[in-house]
Amino acid sequence: MATSLEINGRTVQVEAAPDTPLLWVLRDEAGLTGSKYGCGVGQCGACTVLADGAPVRSCSLPVSALAGVKITTIEGLGGTHPVQEAWVKLDVPQCGYCQSGQIMSAVALLAGNANPSDADIDAAMDGNICRCGAYQRIRAAIREAAA
Ligand code: FES
Repeated sequence: MATSLEINGRTVQVEAAPDTPLLWVLRDEAGLTGSKYGCGVGQCGACTVLADGAPVRSCSLPVSALAGVKITTIEGLGGTHPVQEAWVKLDVPQCGYCQSGQIMSAVALLAGNANPSDADIDAAMDGNICRCGAYQRIRAAIREAAA
């Protein structure tokens, strides 16, 4: 079934059953492989993208729920977003697998709260798991991007 999605400012036609998770459409149909598969059940955050600016778990979001919704993936940030620049400056990733999801959650946080407290950061990033334990650098990069 053809579905029309708005991804990174472009209208994209995809062939997918209505219950297909957005993550698979992004990776397999749209060629946007920056969003990662971790748990597949909405628990790890590796697949996080923005839906109308809010962080969502794309592994658990059927494409049928996304008509008229503006989807932003890590590719849509263009590589020069202040959060991405802070990530590079502070050398945040270790293995890197969770990082696109971490960055998307951080972007959503800072869009709604330009000067978050440590508690704000911890609350916003709570659902993004990092197996390498890069949490201190993630928090520091968010503070850097907010500065
Ligand atoms: Fe979606 Fe883990 S892969 S939350």
